[in-house]
Amino acid sequence: MGINLGRYRIEGSLFLAPMAGVTDAPFRRLCREFGADYAVGEMVASAAQLRKSRKTLARVKFFDDEAPRAVQLLGADPAALKDAFYWACEAGAQVVDFNMGCPAKKVCNVACGSALMKEEPLALEILSVLGEVSKECGVPVTLKCRTGWDEAHKNALTFAQTAQKAGFAMVTIHGRTRTGGFDSSVEYDTIAQVARTVAIPVVANGDITDANRARAVLQYTGAAAVMIGRAALGHPWLFKEIKEALENGCVRATTQEEKVQAILRHWRWHFECYEEPVAVMTFRKHLLWYLTGWSGFETVRAQICQAGDARTQGKLLQDYFAVQGWL
Ligand SMILES: Cc1cc2nc3c(=O)[nH]c(=O)nc-3n(C[C@H](O)[C@H](O)[C@H](O)COP(=O)(O)O)c2cc1C
Repeated sequence: MGINLGRYRIEGSLFLAPMAGVTDAPFRRLCREFGADYAVGEMVASAAQLRKSRKTLARVKFFDDEAPRAVQLLGADPAALKDAFYWACEAGAQVVDFNMGCPAKKVCNVACGSALMKEEPLALEILSVLGEVSKECGVPVTLKCRTGWDEAHKNALTFAQTAQKAGFAMVTIHGRTRTGGFDSSVEYDTIAQVARTVAIPVVANGDITDANRARAVLQYTGAAAVMIGRAALGHPWLFKEIKEALENGCVRATTQEEKVQAILRHWRWHFECYEEPVAVMTFRKHLLWYLTGWSGFETVRAQICQAGDARTQGKLLQDYFAVQGWL
């Protein structure tokens, strides 16, 4: 089918979801290597005073081979968002995504993220401002939202229609309301309704964990693509497995050796991206996602997770893989 985002064309229908603290440049590169067709970076606050922070700067880092480079903005002030759009473009953004789905309290308390879904007039003003600045900069803008604020207020369709009118190139819908958090059951009917109604591509998100679910959601919603979040944590090879199943009907299981090589690549790229103390610390969560449940991991877990420098962490990891016969 294919999705056009400005001059970029996304051919496939398997997207990696933006996840703050996770989907940085190294993890996006790994998921794309395994077949993710598109990946948006972690959300970046639009407030100008935060732009120079190390955290924000890391969130607009890209490897040279990433295209298109998609930066996600979060905010509730139309002027600040406009300004942040220019800044994101200067930082290399080739697509700008607007976050209207984040349910975090510290985000919602300042009316950002999914809180905007119950502030319709302000949200609609923001969409219109972002549509204009997108045209001015020649950089496509996309929207990510939820189905609504709560069960009684499902207004994703209104936002999708307004976004389309404002010139947005795509809308992603997480099939939960804000009050549904991350654990309520996902509802794909609203996504299907939006996909039937608007002409811009709609991406379905929420609880897509395997090929059967991906296929079923694509068929049921008529969405142009599905977006996978938590199921990819510690399983970047999921994209390869789902893709093979969708394309060929059968999957060649990823071998332990392939997984180990992927983890080591991820580790190297992670250290290319961050200063050593930050890299050592932030890679621990990936290690726990990757290795929990793997044979022999419990006996070395504490040691690996307490390693305080790159050499020690890397060596312990290699030793563990070698002892298990995977390296
Ligand atoms: C750790 C974590 C961080 C997230 N950060 C973001 C973010 O920065 N921007 C965003 O739009 N959504 C964010 N999300 C939401 C996901 O993109 C996605 O919509 C949600 O997890 C549902 O998809 P899933 O069921 O496949 O995980 C985050 C989710 C998680 C679990």
